[in-house]
Amino acid sequence: MDKKLIVPDGFPYAGSSLKEIISPKDIAARIKELGIEISKHYQKSTPIVIGILNGSVIFVSDLIRVLNINCEVDFIKVESYLGEIKSSGSVRLIKDISLDILNRDILIAEDIIDSGLTLRYLKKHIIKFKPKSIRIISLLKKNQHLNTDIKADWIGFNIDDNFVVGYGLDIKQRFRDLPGIYIVKE
Ligand code: IMP
Ligand code: MG
Repeated sequence: MDKKLIVPDGFPYAGSSLKEIISPKDIAARIKELGIEISKHYQKSTPIVIGILNGSVIFVSDLIRVLNINCEVDFIKVESYLGEIKSSGSVRLIKDISLDILNRDILIAEDIIDSGLTLRYLKKHIIKFKPKSIRIISLLKKNQHLNTDIKADWIGFNIDDNFVVGYGLDIKQRFRDLPGIYIVKE
C-alpha cells in the first residue's frame, strides 16, 4: 500500500507513524464471527442497525453484509471530540435517526468505546423513541477509561489505551480510508 502512514503537519500527533495492529483479514474474520452470533440472536426479528457517524460507516457496511437475517439501517451523528483527539466530556446530537423505531429491535453500532460517554448519551436518547430492545455492538473497546456503566453486547477487539485510526476511525477526518486498524506511534 502506498498511502502515507505518517501524520501530517497541522494535525494532532504530527510526524508520528502509524503501525498496523489489526489487519484487514483479521477484521473481516472477526466480523464474520460477530455476524453469526448476531444473526442467531435476531433469528425471529428484523433489527434496525443504527450506525454512529462518521466512524462506524465502514464497520456497519461490512457487518450488515455478513448477517443472514433481514435488517434495516439508519444513522445518527454525535460529536464529542470537537474535531480533535480528546473527548470534550459532553456529547452533542448533530443528526438524529430518521426511521420510526417504535417497538423495533435496535442494534447500535459504534466504532470504538473509550469513556463510554457517547454510548451512554445515545442509549438515553434512543430509549425515548420506545424501541422494543436496544443492544450495542462496538468493533473496538479500550480497556482503561470506561467511566460509565455502559456495556456492549458484542465487542470485536479489546485494545490497549492507544490512539488508533483506520477502518473508519480518524484523526481530524484523516485515515478513515485505511483498511486495517493502526496505532499512532509517538
Ligand atoms: P467515548 O465517548 O469516550 O466512549 O468515545 C467514543 C468516541 O470517541 C468514538 O465514537 C470515536 O469517535 C472517538 N474515539 C475514541 N477513541 C478513539 C481513537 O483511538 N481513535 C479515533 N477515535 C476515537
Ligand atoms: Mg465515533
